[in-house]
This record gives sequence, structure tokens and C-alpha cells, in this order.
Amino acid sequence: MQMIIVFVFKLIFVFIVIVIGSSRTHGELTSLVDGTPLEVTKDILDGLVFIDQRLSTVYPLIRNFKNTISSDPLNITGSWVGSDICNYKGFYCDNPPDNKTAITLASIDFNGFQLTAPSLDGFLDQLPDLALFHANSNFFSGTISPNIAKLPYLYELDISNNLFSGPFPNSILGMNTLSFLDIRFNLFSGSIPPQLFTKDLDILFLNNNNFIQKLAEIVGNSHIFYLTLANNKFYGPIPRSIAKYFSGLSEVLLLNNMLSGCLPYEVGFLTETVVFDAGNNLLTGPIPFSLGCLKKAEVVNFAGNLLYGGVPEVVCAMANLANLSLSDNYFMQVGPICRGLIKKGVLDVRKNCIRGLPGQRSMVECMEFFEKPRYCSYRQTYRYLPCWLPDFGGSPMDQSEPAPAPF
Ligand SMILES: *[C@@H]1O[C@H](CO)[C@@H](O)[C@H](O)[C@H]1NC(C)=O
Repeated sequence: MQMIIVFVFKLIFVFIVIVIGSSRTHGELTSLVDGTPLEVTKDILDGLVFIDQRLSTVYPLIRNFKNTISSDPLNITGSWVGSDICNYKGFYCDNPPDNKTAITLASIDFNGFQLTAPSLDGFLDQLPDLALFHANSNFFSGTISPNIAKLPYLYELDISNNLFSGPFPNSILGMNTLSFLDIRFNLFSGSIPPQLFTKDLDILFLNNNNFIQKLAEIVGNSHIFYLTLANNKFYGPIPRSIAKYFSGLSEVLLLNNMLSGCLPYEVGFLTETVVFDAGNNLLTGPIPFSLGCLKKAEVVNFAGNLLYGGVPEVVCAMANLANLSLSDNYFMQVGPICRGLIKKGVLDVRKNCIRGLPGQRSMVECMEFFEKPRYCSYRQTYRYLPCWLPDFGGSPMDQSEPAPAPF
């Protein structure tokens, strides 16, 4: 009995849908993005009827996009047929914010679909109600259309691990709703507009592209929660203002770039940092004592740089340290606390210039390095501790060194 009632209701529903659908397929559709009229004929909609006009608007876009897909090893697009767009693989419907009774395409998740297409233009940038677009690990290429700035609800954009190229998509700067941007593992090049860092982003993944830029140019008052810059070609020194825009970050990932110059003592203000990774750059000079103020630091990596001097004991004494990688530099001394860490396997100082330890550089190699004059400005700041540590003193209790202005 119950089944019959349900069946009857379904019949009525389908009937209503057909009536509404067919009454809407006559010429009143406009593009929701730019308001231009769409010529809606049975031809464009393949004679299908949709539960909502918004879905009939996106249908031809999906069909056209499907036609540009040249490889689909998982046969994802096999499910992209008929009028039930909300059940296509990767497509998700919801009520749009401007009309709680309408049904629209609200999010797309193509993660890992391995689709190949030459561009997302005319597709992604024409889906006006889209809130999420996740398409990592596909083979999409081309550039990002300026029209995505017109999508009023998009707040998560993940196009990581694709083949996008060209300059940073500046249209992203015009998106005011965006809070999550992941473009890592692509082929973007050129520089990143500094305005990006003044936007209201929470998450920004830029790593593994070909961005070439002075790190110091990326300044702003951002409160980005998660930012990755690794594996690009950022160069120049780590700016003294580092704490101003990295201070909220739990992971500072600068590895595999071309950063040079001496470490500013202001790294000691990165109080939220759990992972500080600046491995494989061209950083030089000593490690500032202030690094010991990173109370939450668990992983610190400076391996593969040109750092020298003694490894500060106050850094080895950091309470939560689980991995301190300083191999492949030119350090000359380690004190008893650091030696304790070497024994425990926490500190790696292989390939340095520390006499009496195994696995060090040859005398000749070390002498060649130190033959050249090496100099860091603000020398007095290297021993300055901008925090109070019971065994080492430091401010605010002990201001034996003059405190330089933080920024
Ligand atoms: C410590 O960190 C370095 C650099 O990130 C990494 O190569 C190494 O495997 C880590 N060691 C341990 C024991 O986790």
C-alpha cells in the first residue's frame, strides 16, 4: 500500500516537473552570468526537461565541456547524460543563496578524475551558482578565464595538480568570496600580485609552480592561515617583516626556492610555527638565537643552505623539537645540548664543518668556503632573544642587549 502511495506521488511529481520544465523551455532563458539571452531550443537541451530552469541553463555548458574532454580513463563522463545533472558523477546540487526553493548546481568535485581537457573556459566561469570547484589531479590546461571573477558565490577553488600555465590568474583578485585557493602543482609562472596577500583568504597553496619573485615583494597584512610557497623560484632574503604576515601560520614552507641573504632575527616572532622549512635555498650567515623562541616548533629544516657559525644551544633546547635538519651547511660548532640531540637522532648535522663529528665536509671544502669574506648586517641581533626562556634569559626579564625594533 505504502509503495503504491509513493509511486503515485512520484508520478505526480514527474508530471509537475514536465509541465514546469516545458513551460520554461520557451525563449526566456538568459545567461545567469552576464544576462545575455540564451537561445533555448529543444536542440540545445536535447529535448530534455529539467527540474529547475537553472539546471537547464547549465546543461548545454556541461555538454559542451564534455565534448572537449579528450581522455577519461575512469569513464566519469559516462554518467553525464540525461536531465538528472544532480546525479552526474562529480556534480552536486543545492538551493542557491538567492532562492531557497530553487535547485541549482552548487558544487563540483572532479578530484582524481584524470580527465584531460584543453581549458575550463566557457565552463567553470559560466556556472553562476557554484560555491566549490575542486578539480585536483586532472590534466586540465590553459589559463584561467577572467570571467571567474563574476561568480558571486565561489569560495573554494582547487585546481591543483593540473597543467595550468601562464601568469598568476589576476581575475582571482576580483573574487571577494574566495577563502580557499589551491593552485599548487601547476606550471604557473611570473610573479604573484601582492594584492593577493591582502585578500581575505584562509588557505593559499602556491607551491610547486614556476613563480619567480623577490620574496620581500609579497607583503601585506594578510591573515592567511595556511600558506605554502615551496618549490618555486622565490629569491632574495627572507624579509625582516616575515612575522608580520607569517605569524599566524603553523607551517612556514619556503623549501626549494632560491632565497639568499642572512636570516633576520625576526624569525623568532613566528610564535605559532610548528614546521619551519627553509631547506634547499641559498641562505647564509648564522642562525639567530631568536629561533629558540619558536615554542611550538617541532620540525625545523635548514638543510642544504650556506649557513655557518655555531648551532645555538637555545635552538637545540626548544621544548617540542622532534627534527632539526641542518645538514649540508657550514656550521662549525655544536654545544652539549645539541650533541644530546644528535645522539637522539633529532639533530642532523652531517656534511658541515664540525671537527670531530663523523660525516663532515673535507677540510679543503670548508676552507674554500670561509676564504671568502662573509658578512651579515644587524650583527648584534643574532644573540638577541625576544622571549623569556628560563635557562637562557632574554626579554622581557633580561634586556642586556638593546632590543631592536621588531619591524
Ligand atoms: C627530518 O626532516 C628532514 C627534512 O625535512 C627529512 O628529510 C627527514 O627525513 C626528517 N627526519 C625524520 C627522522 O623524520
